[in-house]
Amino acid sequence: MARSFEALLFHKEEGVAHITLDRPHVLNAYNTQMRDDLWQALEAVRDDPEVAAVVLAGAGERAFCAGADLTEFGAAASQANARQVRFERDVWGLLLSLRVPVVAALHGYVLGAGLEMALLCDLRIASDDAEFGLPETALGMAPAAGGSQTLPRIVGVPAALDLLLSARRIGAAEALRLGVVHRVVPRERLRSEATALAARLAATPRHVMAALKEAVHRGADLPVDQALALEERLAHLTLAGVGR
Ligand code: COA
Repeated sequence: MARSFEALLFHKEEGVAHITLDRPHVLNAYNTQMRDDLWQALEAVRDDPEVAAVVLAGAGERAFCAGADLTEFGAAASQANARQVRFERDVWGLLLSLRVPVVAALHGYVLGAGLEMALLCDLRIASDDAEFGLPETALGMAPAAGGSQTLPRIVGVPAALDLLLSARRIGAAEALRLGVVHRVVPRERLRSEATALAARLAATPRHVMAALKEAVHRGADLPVDQALALEERLAHLTLAGVGR
């Protein structure tokens, strides 16, 4: 089943929703249209009991996403309005809160908001040509799609500070070494590997995946005794089939 959006491709196949950023002529730069489309696509995923995993990818040969659309910077009618829209449509919060596992398939440029979007996913597979970076500081800005919080949680504070403050770009091998991505595959195998992984994840009952995601994401921010209690509670609920 496919749904049409302006800045995204969306289709569902065998329990896996495929969301593909689709502005390849501008390296899939993230603009307001893409934000609105992504919001709707993620809502569709959240509300569809048939979806048990997601693959998030980028269209075209050159990029997963080269960051926020620079041509829209400063173009909002008013800062207050822009803030209100962000508040009403917390796309990043919605992505993070999905109960099903999300696999990011990353190729080419993965920059700025593109990298931050990937960091909000559960698993990241990169092709060997992928290049990662957070160029915001070089533009006189700070990352605003969660990067300053997700990256230290994923790679640790020292490596995160290096990437956040220096704005340097790294290749796939270094991204793998630092733990920014989980695995690297040849470019031609990226989509099939990501799809196969998502299909494997989709075969696990949804309520088990949801409990595990909650245990890991919430538990990581709790003192260890509370985190263990959370795990115990979720394990009991899972055994009892709650949330099935
Ligand atoms: N916003 C809007 N348009 C973008 C874009 C972005 N973030 N990134 C790339 N594009 C557009 C370019 O303007 C160009 O459009 P054009 O063909 O109409 O001129 C097209 O995508 C191709 O990019 P181009 O710069 O010609 O490719 P390149 O190979 O020379 O360089 C990059 C690739 C990624 C190094 C370069 O495009 C770049 O630095 N982009 C901005 C990255 C960035 O700072 N993102 C974070 C913003 S916080």
